[in-house]
Order: sequence, then structure tokens, then C-alpha cells
Amino acid sequence: MRHFTAPVASNILLCEGIYELTFAWEPGMVPPLPGQFCTIRVSSATSPLLRRPFAFSGFDRVKRSVSIVYKKCGPATEIMAGKVGGEALDVIGPLGNSFAQCALGKTNLLIAGGTGFGPVFFLKHYLMELNKPSRMILGCKTSAQLPQSAHLNSPTAFVCTEDGSEGFMGTTVDYLKSLQKEQLDQATLFCCGPTPMLKACYDFAATRGLQCHVSMEQYMACGVGACMGCVVKVHGDNPFARVCTEGPVFNGAVIAWT
Ligand code: FES
Repeated sequence: MRHFTAPVASNILLCEGIYELTFAWEPGMVPPLPGQFCTIRVSSATSPLLRRPFAFSGFDRVKRSVSIVYKKCGPATEIMAGKVGGEALDVIGPLGNSFAQCALGKTNLLIAGGTGFGPVFFLKHYLMELNKPSRMILGCKTSAQLPQSAHLNSPTAFVCTEDGSEGFMGTTVDYLKSLQKEQLDQATLFCCGPTPMLKACYDFAATRGLQCHVSMEQYMACGVGACMGCVVKVHGDNPFARVCTEGPVFNGAVIAWT
């Protein structure tokens, strides 16, 4: 992990309210892994004061640039949406653990909801580089929330919309329930998205004896394990784990879901 300043390469609108920002990766640093994140100080002004966490959505080995996906939903991300090429970003990263630590299944189901498609695109690309097959399932409310991405032009990418405006009509978990038993044989689930979706995916996996890894979303203040502001309840001797440090990726069985 390092604190560095990086020039913005691009900042593009992917779909309704969701952007992908790409910036140069610090020379000499090891590449980030899918599931990891960075924190960015979006402005040198006193407000917003706190750094904001953003999960990585990709790493370009040739250009040595890294991308993050974010939703414009408040003062900090409104400032982010106004960033232009060449502007300097104040970055700390890479932070947290990653999906790379998780054992793969016979079938690997990568499930995304909301802006969770960013880390899932990164994981899909990472597994492709390792020659490991995977099936990606991307869920959103309506087609306007679908990102324009080459990742979706793949026979192993499936789209679910709750209003049926594109792809499968229903949630990602509805889609999982529609799969045949043999399509789930020794499958492992890798999930990024809102907590209710993560819980529903874990419940689906647990009742079928499947492994399920989740990337927890949580508010963060420090991002480096100091403030305890990001804890989630877990099973074990210590009932709390810090999402920024022990996570954000957890085995779903470790989380004390409420
Ligand atoms: Fe401070 Fe995780 S954000 S401990």
C-alpha cells in the first residue's frame, strides 16, 4: 500500500449515473487484485474531508493504468464526475484483501448488482488471464443501468433486469434459481453488490452446499484499519471484522447475516 498522486487518464459515463475513472498506476508498485480498493481524497478543500473508498474495476498491464467504477450519489462523487484527463488524484492503495485468495470451484459464478459489476469485470478478466472459466451474472433494475462494456459481449455473460427490459427478467438470485442442477455442480459463487443481494446469494449457496465469497460494502472513514468504522458482525472468537482490513472479501459463512 502506498500514498501517491496519479494523473487521471479518462473519466467516462458507463450508464445512468455510473462512471468509470482510469488513472495511472504508480511505477514499481505491484498491480492491484480483483476485490481490492483504494481511497481517494476527491478535493483539497476541507469538504468533503474524508477520503472515499473505490473498488478497482480493472488493470491495464500495457498502459499500467487502473480503473474504478463509482455512482454519482453525493458531494464527493459529484466532484469525482467532474475530473478530467491530466488532473491529479490523491490515492492510497491498493487496500484490503482480494478474490485471488479464494479457492475456485468447478464452475465459477461471478455475480454483480449495482456498481458491483466493476470488481466483477476485474475478476472475470483476471480469471480469463489464468485460463479459468467463469460465468458472469449482472443484475440491475432496468436496462438504463447496464454499463456499456465489452465484458457483456460474451457468451458467458448474462444480464438480469427486474423489469425485464433486457435479458432475464428477475434478480440475479432468481436467475441462479433457474439454473439446472448440473450447472451448479461444485460451483463457487463470487458476489459484489448491495448487502441484501449478497445475503440472498449466500443463502442460495448455503442451502445447496456451495462455497460463496462476498465483497462487503460498508461505509469507511480511514480505510486502513484504524477507526473501526467499517466493522461487520462475524462468527468466531472476535465478533467483529473490519471490512477495510480483514475484508472486503469474506467467505459468506463467516458473516453473521442479520
Ligand atoms: Fe477505519 Fe475500516 S474504515 S477501520
